[in-house]
Amino acid sequence: MCGIVGYKGSQNAIPVLISGLESLEYRGYDSAGVAFKSGKKIEIVKNIGKVSNLKSLLNDDANSEIGIAHTRWATHGKVSVENAHPHKVGKITIVHNGIIENYASLKIELEQKGYEFQSQTDTEILCALINDLYETENNLLIAINKMTKLVHGSYALLIMCDDNLNELYAIRCNSPLIVAIKDNDYFLASDVPAILKYTNEYILLENNEIIKVDDKLHIYDESLKEINKQTIIFDGDSNDAMKNGYEHYMLKEINEEPTVVKNILDYYTSDGKFNDNMPSFKKYKKIFIVGCGSACYTADISKSLFEKYLNIPVTVYIASEYRYQQLFYDKDTLVIFISQSGETADTLEALRRTKNDGIDTLAIVNVVSSSIAREADQVLYIKAGVEIAVATTKAFTAQLTMLALLVLRMANKENELKYFEDLSNELNKILKMDFKKYAKKIYKHENAFFIGRGIDYGLCEEGSLKLKEISYINSSAFPSGELKHGTISLITEDTPVISIVSDENIKYKTISNIKEVHARGAYVLWLTNKDENGDFYDDKIVIRDIHEIVNSILMVMPLQLIAYEVAYLRELDIDKPRNLAKSVTVE
Ligand code: F6R
Repeated sequence: MCGIVGYKGSQNAIPVLISGLESLEYRGYDSAGVAFKSGKKIEIVKNIGKVSNLKSLLNDDANSEIGIAHTRWATHGKVSVENAHPHKVGKITIVHNGIIENYASLKIELEQKGYEFQSQTDTEILCALINDLYETENNLLIAINKMTKLVHGSYALLIMCDDNLNELYAIRCNSPLIVAIKDNDYFLASDVPAILKYTNEYILLENNEIIKVDDKLHIYDESLKEINKQTIIFDGDSNDAMKNGYEHYMLKEINEEPTVVKNILDYYTSDGKFNDNMPSFKKYKKIFIVGCGSACYTADISKSLFEKYLNIPVTVYIASEYRYQQLFYDKDTLVIFISQSGETADTLEALRRTKNDGIDTLAIVNVVSSSIAREADQVLYIKAGVEIAVATTKAFTAQLTMLALLVLRMANKENELKYFEDLSNELNKILKMDFKKYAKKIYKHENAFFIGRGIDYGLCEEGSLKLKEISYINSSAFPSGELKHGTISLITEDTPVISIVSDENIKYKTISNIKEVHARGAYVLWLTNKDENGDFYDDKIVIRDIHEIVNSILMVMPLQLIAYEVAYLRELDIDKPRNLAKSVTVE
């Protein structure tokens, strides 16, 4: 979602801010803006659309040593220049990520004091509130601290004040914000890629700690006492946030999957056994798995492995539903939260609810030190590195791998780790396969279906989401036995049906359903690890059958590459599909 960058230092702030915004473009946005010191005043430039549109409005000779910048993903108010950030009210200029839930009541109070608003945003109201508090307190640090007691919601804020344009302030609550120092340059950002060009060391703020940058960096806790904080070292460098010769981040990230799987195994196992990085778990009687979107589908795929190996019930929940549901858990339940970003608002709130109820929690997360990683009782990192493309790929494969390892750990089946040994090699083989030839048969259609049963249905959900989110083809996943109960009426001549069979137990049942759609003229692409021939498909992709504990991990990459090739043929913005954001930090 929205991206934030702030800078003060020895370089020209404007290109630093713009390149910071460009490195956060992947988060998804629809307008962009920048505010910087220009002589004795602040200059604000904003535009709708891409960062390049903003750039076109900036003078080539614009120069400044300090500024703040933002990419906005519209929540309150349409996409417009007025609603774009930065916002300025009185002496205060801010950029904001997050949502102020009580903005409507704050607005009424501020209007009664004579404030008038130009935009439809909650951010402008927050800006007015800080200005109002500053006018009373005459001290921005105190004003920001008082603001935290008056607002409900989430925020990561960068703040400048007309009275001292050489200072930068920042604060966060439930929305990420980091600060980095390189020599005498100070960088503030919502996400690590914005600083990687300069340094891989950063400080992560806790909720309601305040940053002030003047000639140095000051960090204050909630009682406004100045504190020191530890630096975190990011496990990677600027190469991680670059395309490295690939046409799209998505393709680069799919190509990284063999390495990611190897990284996970190297980290959690040694000599074919789990090492100390893999915690041990007590025996649970129930497992809940919670996530959003693809993260939730990894749970759907892994559910039956947990159930079979542990012989306990596993329930999968969509995080946004879980929060408002009656939950039948107790001290013998483990709740697992899956999130690439570790900042997805619904998953984070679901975790908080669970912890509040005193239930054991485990997070499976990619972004180190993200909120979900820090707040869960235990965390397993998936070691996937920075994922830039909005559609998740390598993190998905990494989550599935992690879940399969977790199954073996909880079931004390270390001997089955041997099945993971060939995974990377097999993934490399899939990378060499040609998926464009299938994409050519799909890309002109407006509807597609994915069918399968059990684990294969979970794979269908992911294949279908991947296809629809980047190609805009209206695609649906169905448990194949359900087709006859309605959906089959949508099958017409050449309708693409991607059918998945990896589970021997339900092979013949699914094949009967495939025959039903094939008989009605569908184009059937059969993705399977059963090297069998038949007259029920048009094309067949055969993946190696290693063992049930790892098979689903291998089935995902073909689905990702089919979606990629289809979107490519449709000439779409593969890495940044419309309306989508990488990290969904609003509920
Ligand atoms: C789909 C996709 C999303 C995410 C979902 C959860 O390609 O990327 O469905 O999986 O938004 O995000 P995280 O894993 O960051 O919690």
